[in-house]
Amino acid sequence: MSGQPPPLLAVRDLSKHYPLRTWWGGKGSVFRAVEGVSFDIRPGETLGLVGESGSGKSTIGRAVTMLNPPTSGTIAFEGTDLAKLDAAAMRRMRARMQTVFQDPYAALNPRMSAGDYVAEAFKLHRRAMRGSERREAVAGLFERVGLDPRFMGRYPHQFSGGQRQRICIARAIALKPSFIVADEPIAALDVSIQAQVVNLLQDLQDEMGLSYLFISHDLRMVRYLCHRVAVLWRGRIVELAEADALYADPRHPYTRRLLAAVPVPHPAEERARLAARDIADHDQPPDGPLTEVAPGHWAAMPQGPHA
Ligand SMILES: Nc1ncnc2c1ncn2[C@@H]1O[C@H](COP(=O)(O)OP(=O)(O)OP(=O)(O)O)[C@@H](O)[C@H]1O
Ligand SMILES: [Mg+2]
Repeated sequence: MSGQPPPLLAVRDLSKHYPLRTWWGGKGSVFRAVEGVSFDIRPGETLGLVGESGSGKSTIGRAVTMLNPPTSGTIAFEGTDLAKLDAAAMRRMRARMQTVFQDPYAALNPRMSAGDYVAEAFKLHRRAMRGSERREAVAGLFERVGLDPRFMGRYPHQFSGGQRQRICIARAIALKPSFIVADEPIAALDVSIQAQVVNLLQDLQDEMGLSYLFISHDLRMVRYLCHRVAVLWRGRIVELAEADALYADPRHPYTRRLLAAVPVPHPAEERARLAARDIADHDQPPDGPLTEVAPGHWAAMPQGPHA
């Protein structure tokens, strides 16, 4: 890994377990929502996180920003172990790591104007600012995310879905973070405006040098937006590679199955897709340790009788 800049985010052996209660309310065992997950995100990089519903994507997103701290494992952000920070230091750190969620309407406060909602970021982080200075900063943020600053006094219901997500993005970038977790940020939007929001995220990345953890079901969008992609299966990473390598040469049966559900325009990949569909659904994805199968391309290799 020589020549690489140090990672912005280094996640090691992250696990999140939830207590499982029996249906009559007794104590049960634990449910391993995420188990032994490790990855880095480099400065200016977008890492895609894909996997079926319930595979643990949002759990990882909330764990790396400590919104829902992990059961075990370490998260180092800009070289600092987040578990070692006290509440005040963590709050300062939060200004550097933000989250954009799937449903902007749920994230917004219906009784707060869009301008006040964005300005709240400064207040929460106790940035001393005069009123006029704050209004100017919010107007600048509105312009930056493609919203007319004259709409600052409007309320959430007076915006379209895409505009609401732009408001959430404006608030997320207000404190000039270096990292944003985007958890299905376009899934609730009309297809016609999904690309606009993705392009906005890309423009902001270019301008601000942002890194993203981009959580998505949309494998085509992931390929378009992400530099590298991690495939999650039942709380474990089964494959992690550069996006081009993952889509052109998926190694893990689960990745192949996931990609087989997406039609692709390239003839060679289309052949691979059709071949992968032949993997029977009852075939359990193998669950060995991640092995480097090609430079920078990691996959959990088959083990045991399924190999
Ligand atoms: N607070 C909780 N208590 C118990 N189990 C939980 C809790 N939060 C999540 N889980 C479980 O952890 C697993 C992973 O959930 P998570 O929300 O991370 O999945 P996901 O990959 O984001 O799914 P989706 O694509 O549907 O958003 C699920 O089985 C879920 O039921
Ligand atoms: Mg989720």
